[in-house]
Amino acid sequence: GLGCCALVLLLLLGGSGSPGTSPRPRGPWPEEQGAVPEGAPWGRVRYEAVKEHLGAVGALSRRYWQYLACKVWQEGCEEEKQREDGEASPIPSWGFPLVGQDYLEILSAWYCSFGKCCETGDCRIINNITGLEADLSGQLHGQHLAKAVVLRAVQGFLQSPQPQKALVLSFHGWSGTGKNFVARMVATHLYRDGLKSDCVRVFVSLLHFPHHNYVDSYKAQLQRQISETLQGCRQPLLIFDEAEKLHSSLLDAIKPFMAQHDSEGQPHQQRSIFLFLSNLGGNTINEVALDFWRAGRAREEIPLELLEQRLRLELQEAAENSYAHSHLLRENLIDFVVPFLPLEFQHVKLCARDAFLARGLPYTEATLDKVAQMMVFVPKEEKLFSAQGCKSVPQRINYFLP
Ligand SMILES: *[C@@H]1O[C@H](CO)[C@@H](O)[C@H](O)[C@H]1NC(C)=O
Repeated sequence: GLGCCALVLLLLLGGSGSPGTSPRPRGPWPEEQGAVPEGAPWGRVRYEAVKEHLGAVGALSRRYWQYLACKVWQEGCEEEKQREDGEASPIPSWGFPLVGQDYLEILSAWYCSFGKCCETGDCRIINNITGLEADLSGQLHGQHLAKAVVLRAVQGFLQSPQPQKALVLSFHGWSGTGKNFVARMVATHLYRDGLKSDCVRVFVSLLHFPHHNYVDSYKAQLQRQISETLQGCRQPLLIFDEAEKLHSSLLDAIKPFMAQHDSEGQPHQQRSIFLFLSNLGGNTINEVALDFWRAGRAREEIPLELLEQRLRLELQEAAENSYAHSHLLRENLIDFVVPFLPLEFQHVKLCARDAFLARGLPYTEATLDKVAQMMVFVPKEEKLFSAQGCKSVPQRINYFLP
């Protein structure tokens, strides 16, 4: 029980060369006796409890706690940072040389593993829906459908008390329309460390599974990596880029992880999110967008239902090009198909503006026009859609620097 955990903690720190006082045995922590009202910040209470205990051991400086609080609760980090900036080597100056960073890592990982040390129950998970919405609104251009679907899907999934299956989204559209951008945004706003989080895993078909001859070993490797990620995190995010190039047997290998959790012996609170990014259906989406434009209607009027229906039809027919999304569709594993519309001149200009702003560089309306004019627009007659979307726009602004 917790008594034993406290002991481990004391041993961990007591055995680390703390000078002076020996640990004084104590009873179980009062905070752990059910005295905490429902909904109280458990993490904080536990933090105070541990703090008191370890303070009594006399082994810890205020700074140590500051560091731990920063690590575990993301609190007091500024103070910690200032110190780091001000001193050449912060850790040796702590006075407890053996209580190093490794111990802190172990301690905070262990501490987080039994308790709700963060609001989400896992400090790696932040689930900042407000931030996601703000970024989708401010930085994703021309994608009213993708924005709405992603936000609704992710928010609904994270709020549902006991999801029966993983959330599976399939992003479709031409390259440069923002599929990767949105996947990254989701990672950034759901996880403290974004794409680098151990809860997040990105697979790029041609990078990770380039040779069809090795499909069997890829399959074993993929299954191992997915189960590791699923076991190490209760809200894992798995991103499959270039999904149209994923061998169908690899897709089959992923399927069991998306289905019912119970059969896999996963804990019930597990919330896995799968994103598949592909350019399949891109042409269909573009045809619909072009039809709307020719009919003099705004792209914002394009209804999701229309695109979703056309996309699902097309994906089923795409089975012969070894793309196996259709299996997923047949088994209803894909919850949402997310269409990314082709980008127009005005959207490319907005991407250019963001690129200038991101680098803190000045720009004029004329410069933005020039950057956008570098892109190829199709179809031949209308020259309406950027063939590469906003791809490489951040690099292209280099030509127009003062
Ligand atoms: C959520 O993200 C927004 C924008 O990135 C940020 O301003 C806000 O502080 C974040 N909220 C939390 C609780 O982290």
